[in-house]
Amino acid sequence: MRWFSQGLRWSTLLIICLVAVLLFAQPAFAQASSVAEPDQSAAISKIVEISKQSQPPKLRGQHPKGHGTVWAEFTVAPDLSQNLRVGVFQEPGKTYPAWIRFSNARDTDDTKPGLQGMAIKLMDVAGDKVLESEKTAQTQDFVMVNHPVFFIRNASDFAEFFTALATGKQSEFFKTHQQEAKITQSLQTKQTQNPLAAQYWSTTPYQFGETAIKFAVRPTSQIGDEMGNTPDYLRAAMANSLMAQDATFDFLIQQQNDAAKTPIEDPTVEWHESDAPLQKVATIRIPRQIFDTPEQNAFGEALSFTPWHSLPEHQPLGSINRARKAIYQATSEQRHREMEIAVAEPTPDTFTPRLLNP
Ligand code: HEM
Repeated sequence: MRWFSQGLRWSTLLIICLVAVLLFAQPAFAQASSVAEPDQSAAISKIVEISKQSQPPKLRGQHPKGHGTVWAEFTVAPDLSQNLRVGVFQEPGKTYPAWIRFSNARDTDDTKPGLQGMAIKLMDVAGDKVLESEKTAQTQDFVMVNHPVFFIRNASDFAEFFTALATGKQSEFFKTHQQEAKITQSLQTKQTQNPLAAQYWSTTPYQFGETAIKFAVRPTSQIGDEMGNTPDYLRAAMANSLMAQDATFDFLIQQQNDAAKTPIEDPTVEWHESDAPLQKVATIRIPRQIFDTPEQNAFGEALSFTPWHSLPEHQPLGSINRARKAIYQATSEQRHREMEIAVAEPTPDTFTPRLLNP
């Protein structure tokens, strides 16, 4: 009996400890991701495996064609309201040095329609980061495309799509995934005149202190909008613009306020501005410069952008973002191994840009 009651006390203690471990093992900012996390490890392993197999040598698995990596300044809005002073936005008016890589999602020929990417890397960002292997890195990345939604809902659907793609059966996948087919069709008609004149969206959500957000970037400078007709016209358009003038963008966030209209786990659902208005939190200035040199191109292609280069305050949320953690790390490591370059986050001194007089 004594043994039984002692056993009972021990088991009560054990349960209390387990509950405490479960409670405190949650990430520091878990409130916004209220949906239980299903086990996606098999789907993620499948995506990693196909990504590595299909990756062109020494290049990125997705967005392999860069138009250029440019030097930029990212300035937190000087009048930022108190409730938005979070993470890198803590100090109104603060300017971070940054690199921005513009890219095609798939094609190497710019005259073919398709999705464009804009990946921003802030430097001199103090504080521990979420990736265990790069905890002390001084960078915060914001990765976007020029469309407000992603074409796949979650990691298991992506694994199914990727397997179908690898075996030439994508049309069968789209037959049973109508919404995904519709988004993919609209991506295939997108034509860009100049990457410096496009709008970009995160498509997937992120933590923003105690809330969840999506972010976007909107051009604010008058950039020429003539359509090019050569395979590399997007790089040429950027180079010509930045010889003549600065390019500027507003960096905006939308806050989640309704689980149905602004969901965390489904990036195929657009967060409409009528439900979640875009608010400006920073300005991006890309000063006049010459970026199209062999040295700077090599530097930009050796960079690694991932949503997981992040402070905990801006931690990526949702199934697709959780999957991206292992995938980007694996493909970046593979191409760096092939290039025989170490994977390393830059500091502002790593590479000197060729800026032109204002
Ligand atoms: C499960 C879904 C996704 C997979 C499997 C995937 C895969 C990848 C891979 C393998 C890379 C290259 C990483 C490297 O080698 O450094 C990459 C880059 C990129 N991805 Fe994704 N991605 C996914 C979702 C997204 C989403 C939702 C966006 C929307 C913002 C996005 C935008 C980009 C961009 C812009 C780049 C280029 C970054 C750079 O310039 O280095 N991806 N993606």
